[in-house]
Amino acid sequence: MSDLRIAVLGVGMMGADHIARIGSKIAGARVSVVNDYVTEKAEQLAATIPGCRAISDPLDAIADPDVDAVILATPGTTHEKQLLACLEHGKPVMCEKPLTTDVATSLEVVKREAELGKRLIQVGFMRRFDVEYAALKALLDDGDLGRPLVMHCAHRNPTVPPHFDSSMIVKDSLVHEVDVTRFLFDEEITSVQMVRPAANPAAPEGLQDPQIAIFHTATGKHVDVEVFVTTGVAYEVRTEVVAELGSAMIGLDVGLLRKSAPGHWGGQITPSFKERFGQAYDTEIQRWVDAVRAGTNVDGPGAWDGYAAAAVCAAGVESLETGQPVTVEMVSRDSIKGA
Ligand SMILES: NC(=O)c1ccc[n+]([C@@H]2O[C@H](COP(=O)([O-])OP(=O)(O)OC[C@H]3O[C@@H](n4cnc5c(N)ncnc54)[C@H](O)[C@@H]3O)[C@@H](O)[C@H]2O)c1
Repeated sequence: MSDLRIAVLGVGMMGADHIARIGSKIAGARVSVVNDYVTEKAEQLAATIPGCRAISDPLDAIADPDVDAVILATPGTTHEKQLLACLEHGKPVMCEKPLTTDVATSLEVVKREAELGKRLIQVGFMRRFDVEYAALKALLDDGDLGRPLVMHCAHRNPTVPPHFDSSMIVKDSLVHEVDVTRFLFDEEITSVQMVRPAANPAAPEGLQDPQIAIFHTATGKHVDVEVFVTTGVAYEVRTEVVAELGSAMIGLDVGLLRKSAPGHWGGQITPSFKERFGQAYDTEIQRWVDAVRAGTNVDGPGAWDGYAAAAVCAAGVESLETGQPVTVEMVSRDSIKGA
């Protein structure tokens, strides 16, 4: 079977990372086309990849006959148009989160895919592929801990770019805990409340950081998340599930523990999400490539999961203004045939 020919749209941080991954670690795939808003960046990169061309228009890149499947690593604002083009051309697509930047367009994408009668869209919620999250999910599904009741999460970044505002903490950071909750508990989040503690004096002026999110799920489970993106320390993602018969925790950074003079004891915390979730990205892309080559196209979160995350984040952003619990407004999945 010949290699899957992939077009990567957007060759910034994530796109370049996926291109390097496909070139060095992923079996059965190669990058045949690259595209970026900054044409020279794509051309320079294409020159380093055997058999790869730069195409300056993203929609032409999707339509190109040398392209079997697409990775979207462009900014979220461009996803809707590019996803609809992938659907129009029947090309499987791995779309970095978010699916789109608002609830209405995310729902439109879900409906358009459902109309086709086959799944083409996977969304890049990579934590589902992390070995620790996978082990926690398996433990919960096995039933050894009984019914899960409560989840406590911490999501800390050392720093964020200057353009990061308070609502982006919900839409870009907290969104991962939204997907983790839906993945681990297999049910929808029905309400969100954002609590605003005293802001970190070291955070940029006007940034509400940290934030505490409280989710309630369809069966009444409670989830709380501390999101703190200007800790100045390191990247920390911790998740603890408390269940009827015990509890389980992941994200403790318990790799190598070292004792050394003068009197130090300890290990290392991952500096950024790239190190913490490097294995998850590798597994995510390999399994997606395998699924596309097998004709199933999706092996992981799909368009519906992207829509659900958008709906929960919209409620979160609203609650950030009022501090009150906000009900998540979503259509029922059953109302969309094929979703
Ligand atoms: N899964 C994760 O953990 C994770 C982490 C970071 C970013 N992301 C997502 O990945 C996507 C890309 O983020 P990034 O951090 O790599 O951003 P980035 O700014 O580093 O890169 C985006 C690239 O897209 C290019 N671009 C802009 N508009 C374009 C268009 N219309 N067509 C083609 N190219 C265009 C830009 O020139 C840039 O090179 C975003 O959706 C982001 O939310 C996901």
